[in-house]
Amino acid sequence: MTAISPETEAGASSRLHPLPVRLMHWVNAVAMFIMIGSGWKIYNDEVIFGWLHFPEALAIGKWAQHGLLWHFFGMWVFAINGLLYLAYGIFSGRFRRKLWPISPRELISTIGAALRFKLGHDDLTHYNAVQKSLYVGVILIGVMSVISGLTLWKPVQFSELLALFGNDFQTVRLVHFLCMAAICGFVVIHVALALLVPKTLIAMITGGPRVPSAQPPASSP
Ligand code: HEM
Repeated sequence: MTAISPETEAGASSRLHPLPVRLMHWVNAVAMFIMIGSGWKIYNDEVIFGWLHFPEALAIGKWAQHGLLWHFFGMWVFAINGLLYLAYGIFSGRFRRKLWPISPRELISTIGAALRFKLGHDDLTHYNAVQKSLYVGVILIGVMSVISGLTLWKPVQFSELLALFGNDFQTVRLVHFLCMAAICGFVVIHVALALLVPKTLIAMITGGPRVPSAQPPASSP
């Protein structure tokens, strides 16, 4: 099966982050903002942890039902955009080229270098093992947040999904909550790193450096 590869086939005119990736990334960022803010509103109406209420000033929606409407709106944008991103990443070969493989040895040495503040950011065209792990991790958590969200929304219609969570509605709520918490943790680190290395941020807006046309992955047929 031949992979379509806009970055490698379009030659010198291609960018590090092709336009579809940039569009989907920023649509996702806005959708995520809506999902998390409205999710906090819904959560505050019936909390899981008695000690945890999200600040009303940061929650989206005038009241819980209003927050729910925002959540459903964000859900369609997030889910459709996410499916397009997954399809693009798989069929263009981008995931295989940029996010794979993740070497445990490189992961450990990259974490070590980061802790010693010796991590280089000269090469924008290559994600290090920590970046790869974070991106693959957040993509998988995004998928789980949709699965658990669908189960919360329609537990009877998606009873097979509910069975994945031991047929326990409270478990689904907890998993959905933990996905949100993990995504928030990712976003804090991700945005901090983007601000610390602004050229990565500029590249995600403008497309970044042109990548040479002859840049096939080592395993490419
Ligand atoms: C305002 C918020 C955000 C900013 C400023 C931002 C910034 C960036 C930047 C600069 C990159 C490129 C990194 C590099 O080249 O080293 C990137 C990539 C990425 N971001 Fe974000 N991001 C934001 C929100 C999010 C959110 C909410 C998610 C998901 C929950 C996300 C997931 C990703 C992923 C998966 C990639 C890799 C994309 C690819 O190469 O296919 N980002 N982001």
